[in-house]
Amino acid sequence: MTAKDRIDELRTELHRHNYQYYVLNTPEISDRDFDLLMHELQELEEKHPEYADANSPTMRVGSDLNKNFVQIQHKYPMLSLANTYSESEVTDFYERVRKALNEEFEICCELKYDGTSISLTYENGRLIRAVTRGDGEKGDDVTDNVKTIRSIPLMLHGDTYPQEFEIRGEILMPWDVFGQLNEAREAREEQLFANPRNAASGTLKLQNSAIVASRKLDAYLYYLLGENLPFDGHYENLQEAGKWGFKTSDATRKCETLQQVFDFIKYWDVERKNLPVATDGIVLKVNSLRQQKNLGFTAKSPRWAIAYKFQAERALTRLNKVTYQVGRTGAITPVANLEPVQLSGTMVKRASLHNADIIEGLDLHIGDMVYVEKGGEIIPKITAVDTDARSFMLGEKVRFITRCPECGSELVRYEGEAAHYCPNETVCPPQIKGKIEHFISRKAMNIDGLGPETVDLFYRLQLIKDVADLYNLKMEDLKDLDRMGEKSASNILTGIEASKNVPFERVIFALGIRFVGETVAKKLAKSFVDIDELAHADMETLTNIDEIGEKIAQSVHAYFANPANSLLVNRLKSYGLKLQRTEEDMSGYTDKLAGKSIVISGVFMHHSRDEYKELIEKNGGKNVGSISAKTSFVLAGDNMGPAKLEKARKLGVEIIDENTFLELIS
Ligand code: IVH
Repeated sequence: MTAKDRIDELRTELHRHNYQYYVLNTPEISDRDFDLLMHELQELEEKHPEYADANSPTMRVGSDLNKNFVQIQHKYPMLSLANTYSESEVTDFYERVRKALNEEFEICCELKYDGTSISLTYENGRLIRAVTRGDGEKGDDVTDNVKTIRSIPLMLHGDTYPQEFEIRGEILMPWDVFGQLNEAREAREEQLFANPRNAASGTLKLQNSAIVASRKLDAYLYYLLGENLPFDGHYENLQEAGKWGFKTSDATRKCETLQQVFDFIKYWDVERKNLPVATDGIVLKVNSLRQQKNLGFTAKSPRWAIAYKFQAERALTRLNKVTYQVGRTGAITPVANLEPVQLSGTMVKRASLHNADIIEGLDLHIGDMVYVEKGGEIIPKITAVDTDARSFMLGEKVRFITRCPECGSELVRYEGEAAHYCPNETVCPPQIKGKIEHFISRKAMNIDGLGPETVDLFYRLQLIKDVADLYNLKMEDLKDLDRMGEKSASNILTGIEASKNVPFERVIFALGIRFVGETVAKKLAKSFVDIDELAHADMETLTNIDEIGEKIAQSVHAYFANPANSLLVNRLKSYGLKLQRTEEDMSGYTDKLAGKSIVISGVFMHHSRDEYKELIEKNGGKNVGSISAKTSFVLAGDNMGPAKLEKARKLGVEIIDENTFLELIS
């Protein structure tokens, strides 16, 4: 046998044993025999570098090479799921789906694994890339680290897999590995991981894949994406992926009724405590991909899926005091300082109290025994007071502050809003710094080299008092600063200079106008030629823009009505920022449907409803919900509702099919 043949043989054998051991849990050979085969392969590969293969089982041991991760754009964005804790919202979801589809459907019920999500790309049966979720649009390329996870196949089995596809899932650190890791860290007096999720994501981001390999991560895969998946059913595709070598969950079930869904939830709410990995809920997905496509997505999550989260654990502890934080918009957040308490794996010392009404509703007193929950995960909240405990002692009632803790200004509360604000936006330090931090952030001006600490430093030294001052910074101002040096200073200056090319829509977002998030900023940039036109727009012009209501319009109007802001914008203009839209910003946009209001109805072949909505808007039309005499036409797919059909006929509204529509805008 040639060396090449033996290498191939060993690789095939080792891939198979990996699968038997890590996916099926039924090893055929002892660990020692496995190690011997692995050693033999390693030696042969070292002797014959000409037969190197990026997907050889030996790659699973990792390498000591340190490198920074490369950012990769996701082909399909990685969205999150709408969350609920209530059974009635599960029913609502089911009913919504039933109404929207108007035909039979099945729900695929899965466990919601509580780890860190990953997207794997396979081409011709080989793992070629593993990317983290990142911001949903772009993530880190962690392929080398992921290759060390034994339950992730490097080469697929069989021949039914699509030539190219992505599969997404959750990377997890099993409870026992987590326990051992923390014990070892404790012994070395290192900081402990708060929970397996943090441990898994921390591990995945390590630079040294040999350490990653030693941490024994696991992975469950639950979502396939690609053009040529074998079946229309999500469940059926997952079963098939199991045959290709992926670890999919045995718990997954298809349900035909809402009752079956609730039975699944009830069973796993208890049974999950016996699983080797952390779960925090159940995911419900409409099973048919065709139906998924028709239901489409909202801006953040699919309409065809929902996550039902298990009731969080709660803990009882003492409220020591309440402090107040000032955000970049001047919003005041009350924070409960608690007697530290252990809660689902983390030590909780603080909890958000949200606003004055919440405090009032709880009738909080200092010294109260309060229940803390980690509902929405990251920031724990106080859900109730143990009033019985008060019989021993009743502390001072918590009263919301009336003056800003940072600058002493009298706080205001706007009509219809829960939050208190410090109105002193141009002088109050956390607001100034917060605005600058927002301005430089990645989704805004994306200025490299600057971060909260540098902003704080520059502000303290009076080098910057607002965002426009950034553009006036010079080498002499920076190079002699503490821990700075010429290289960092020059990085910062280059970053600032480069930000002058950031497109109009992101500059609008960067200004930090209240309620103007990324999406609204985009809409504004498309609707006005430049910042002056936007600044002079009246309320009517603003509210006429799709999805811009009174509240946003009011805020935009108020922003430009403030002379300090106009002055700031003028200074930014003089520094050469893009405060007008360019041809490039408008590419893909036409006015072929200008002035038309269009109703979408039925089920489509070529695009989802959301995509059609976007096409309508990009071509200057308006997508409206119901047919009236003012409707220009109905874009109709299959199964258009009979009531709509009748109404369109009665009003003489034209009905066109999707091909005609696509021609119309082509
Ligand atoms: S499906 C477009 N299925 O939950 C929907 N996600 O909030 C794609 N997760 O980022 C996600 N278990 O990290 C899906 N069985 C499961 C899941 C699951 C855990 C995580 C995942 C995702 C987050 C969504």
